[in-house]
Amino acid sequence: MSSDIRADEVVRAEHLSKGFGPVSALRDVNLSVRRGEILGLIGDNGAGKSTLIKILTGFHRPDGGELFFEGEPVVLRSVTHARSLGIETVFQDLAMVNELPVYLNLHLNKELVHAPLPFLRRREMKRRAREALDAIGINIPSVTAQVGQLSGGQRQAIAVARSVHSEAKLLLLDEPLAAMGAKEGGLILRLLQQLKARGDIAIILIAHNYGQIVDVCDRVNLLQHGEITFDKPSKDTSVAELLELVHAEYRLNHD
Ligand SMILES: Nc1ncnc2c1ncn2[C@@H]1O[C@H](COP(=O)(O)OP(=O)(O)OP(=O)(O)O)[C@@H](O)[C@H]1O
Ligand SMILES: [Mg+2]
Repeated sequence: MSSDIRADEVVRAEHLSKGFGPVSALRDVNLSVRRGEILGLIGDNGAGKSTLIKILTGFHRPDGGELFFEGEPVVLRSVTHARSLGIETVFQDLAMVNELPVYLNLHLNKELVHAPLPFLRRREMKRRAREALDAIGINIPSVTAQVGQLSGGQRQAIAVARSVHSEAKLLLLDEPLAAMGAKEGGLILRLLQQLKARGDIAIILIAHNYGQIVDVCDRVNLLQHGEITFDKPSKDTSVAELLELVHAEYRLNHD
């Protein structure tokens, strides 16, 4: 165990690197998130944000570096393995089974059965699904609708609802607001704040809207060309500073 790991750290990445052929997507990335903390991850298109999240969720193996989960070194073998540890991820399209109805997606891998017989407790799952969605305030007409027929924003809302009810220890959200209307986006941000208030979960949020990042996150990390170049508490930065950092680099590359 690394000597400077804090007791309330949920995840820590040390010296992570990842390449895709000639592209160096991540180089020597260090990052950590504590319980009750929301970390905002920002950066230009192609900076490596999704690649980092996909390593933390067990989808990609890093080429180098180490991961620690709750203070212990860990090698994430798969998304299922990460999920079994309490790592939940919200991607727009990755996490849902389009052929299944809303309520079964909400219970994916956690179906309720009538023990000792393997019959699904459909009525109870539908009731719980309705309750979970109503609690968020997202408008999904029917929990028996097939997920494939919903809008991108509705699918994401379901993914967030599922994470919230999963007792996740680490929640990773890769642009959960991108496909949402203003009202739904606001609901998700409020939901994240409620989760944070619970105090036992660490959250990493990727978003391109720096106003939302500064509002909802405790700390901001900026990824530039696969490296974290900035790490500050939100209260010590501003939308203007974040825009300037990203745009200064843009001017450098395009003048
Ligand atoms: N599966 C892959 N195969 C090859 N190259 C990839 C793959 N995934 C990502 N890359 C490359 O790695 C780099 C980082 O991509 P990544 O998706 O992590 O960026 P991002 O910061 O999430 O960008 P965006 O804001 O557009 O979502 C890019 O150059 C991208 O082309
Ligand atoms: Mg991305």
